[in-house]
Formats: sequence, C-alpha cells, structure tokens
Amino acid sequence: MTKQETYQTLLPQIESLVAGEPDPIANMANVAAALHEAFGFWWTGFYRVEGQQLILGPFQGPIACTRIPYGKGVCGTAWQRAETVIVPNVHEFPGHIACSSASNSEIVVPILHDEQVIAVLDIDSKDYNTFDEIDKKYLEKIVAFL
Ligand code: SME
Repeated sequence: MTKQETYQTLLPQIESLVAGEPDPIANMANVAAALHEAFGFWWTGFYRVEGQQLILGPFQGPIACTRIPYGKGVCGTAWQRAETVIVPNVHEFPGHIACSSASNSEIVVPILHDEQVIAVLDIDSKDYNTFDEIDKKYLEKIVAFL
C-alpha cells in the first residue's frame, strides 16, 4: 500500500474509533496507537497545552521529554505558529529538542479548538525526509476528529 492508501484506510477507522468516546485522553491514546502501528514510526504522540507549556500526553515509543515551553523545539514552534511544521532533518532545525538521538525527521500538527491550539500531534522518524504534504493533509484530517 502507498502512504496515501494507508491513510485512506486509516481515516474512517480512526473516525469511528473516536466518534463514540468523549474523553480526549482516551482518544489521543488510540490515535497514537493506530498511527504508530500502521506506519511503524519511531515515536508517535501528543503534547497538551497547559498554560505556557506543552505537557506530554498519550504516546507510543520510547520515553520522551515531559515539558516543552511555548515557541521551543518543533512542538513549541508548531504551537506558536498554529500550523503544521514538517522537518526533513531535525539536526538542521534551530532549537530542536532531541528527546531521542535516533530521531532524524519529524512532523508536528497542532490541534485547534475555537481557534486556539489545545494540543499537538508529534511524530518522529528514524529516517530523514519521512514527512511531506500527504502526511500533513491526512494528519490534519485525523486530528480534526479529536
Ligand atoms: N523533538 C520535539 C520534542 C518532542 S520529542 O520528539 C518526542 C521538539 O523539538 O519539539
């Protein structure tokens, strides 16, 4: 299956998975697991906005940094810009926060509610150049279910 086909298969599955469950933490947990399993990413998870920082939420993969300040790292930058950030090579991103030295590329997708960022979806890959406009398009659709 191509990446696009995998997302197209996953999209209705995730939509129905979260539709009957009002708890956002439970839904973030299942979305992280579904994406992680389908694509075999290195790290897949959420950070939640709490005041002026992001705090680690449900994830799949190795242990990670628990708090990220506003505007810091790829996650804090996606929060500040309120838009998806694709990083083909994390070693070239100024201020990248290396939770794991094995991560080489990353995408962070903000989750908006009433025009405010309430959380971000962060995905890390061991490969360079893993994420592109296809990931952005489908991951933005997926987080809109949350
Ligand atoms: N690399 C992220 C930090 C989170 S970990 O990748 C799980 C960043 O620069 O914001």
